[in-house]
Amino acid sequence: MRIPTHHSPGRPTWLEIDLSAIAHNFHVARQTVGPTCGLYPVIKANAYGLGALPIAKTLTAAGAQGFCVAMVEEAIPLRAGGIDLPIVLLSGFIPGLERQVIALDLEPVVFDLDAARRLSHLRASTAPPIPVHVKIDTGMGRVGFDPNQLPEVIAELQKLPGIRLHSILSHLARADETEGVQTTREQLNRLEQAVAPFRQEVRLSLANSAGLLGSPATRLDWVRPGIMLYGASPFYPLRTWQEDHLRPVVRWLTHVLSIRQVPAGTPLGYGHEFVTRRESRIALLPVGYADGYGRMLKGRARILTHGRSAPVVGRISMDLTLTDVTGIPEVKAGSRVTLLGADGEEFIGIEEMADWMDTIPYEVLCRFGPRLPRHHLPYIP
Ligand SMILES: Cc1ncc(COP(=O)(O)O)c(C=O)c1O
Repeated sequence: MRIPTHHSPGRPTWLEIDLSAIAHNFHVARQTVGPTCGLYPVIKANAYGLGALPIAKTLTAAGAQGFCVAMVEEAIPLRAGGIDLPIVLLSGFIPGLERQVIALDLEPVVFDLDAARRLSHLRASTAPPIPVHVKIDTGMGRVGFDPNQLPEVIAELQKLPGIRLHSILSHLARADETEGVQTTREQLNRLEQAVAPFRQEVRLSLANSAGLLGSPATRLDWVRPGIMLYGASPFYPLRTWQEDHLRPVVRWLTHVLSIRQVPAGTPLGYGHEFVTRRESRIALLPVGYADGYGRMLKGRARILTHGRSAPVVGRISMDLTLTDVTGIPEVKAGSRVTLLGADGEEFIGIEEMADWMDTIPYEVLCRFGPRLPRHHLPYIP
């Protein structure tokens, strides 16, 4: 069901997040991995900027087995909001946060034994053991034990009271690239060889969205999809969301604040970098780099209004952006403007915006500023 789009009082610029589209993308993941593989959506960084709690509720209703966050504090609003599925803590925890890890009932990823010892030390002997996930570095070159250390690591962990080894995981470095096939194969081989002696005792996880969709052998016991749930193909620019049967999730909307008619030769905005070449109608938009509409969009971005496209002109400032709407005479103060998403036949995707910003769709999402209201269109299972 779609509810009418509206904006919150005081802020005419907002994000609209379609929870039904997220549920659809989750079902694509479910159909791809089959019924027995565990699906633990990655909802770190406030679900890539889109609002972790409503998304976690949607994904719980859609059948997620658990969630992944990066940091301890990201789990607090989830637990406070009633999410009681397992939460895996992907980036571990610094000394001093053990009590929070325990109180929030988190399942930490461990990549040094001291972290496991600190937890074990604090876990009451009467409480059930804390499930931990051991990370090994099979080729990402970032975090994790050397696969050769695994027998000692497991032996050490088994001596620690209050800790239970739940799974062994690793992270793919190049599963999104055509040339990455060999690396992915090597990573999978290293993981499988390292865990062979313990295969009956632990569960294995390797796949992110790219592994899940593109490298079936990496699906193993449970998977950690992120970006695909938010409507972008992990393979972009090789593949688009349409080819991966995903649905766009986010629209970014605003309203024209005011319109000015200016003569040819008028310099506009900071640095006078843009000068009108003809008499122009310029629409002022209440959005800027403080909202994640970055300065690098200058001279590249376009917006949609009244079903048509208009270029952004001049430098983008903290709270304001200018657009040349000379060709769209219907535009007036209050007209609705789409920065991302569809307006009639026109569409701006996060992929297009990422290209303008010389970055990847992940970063477009993560740059949405905290002052942008997030309106979630409900998911009704
Ligand atoms: C350890 C780990 N697993 C899974 C993911 C999800 O990746 P993606 O958004 O590409 O699906 C991430 C995100 O960066 C991650 O750090």
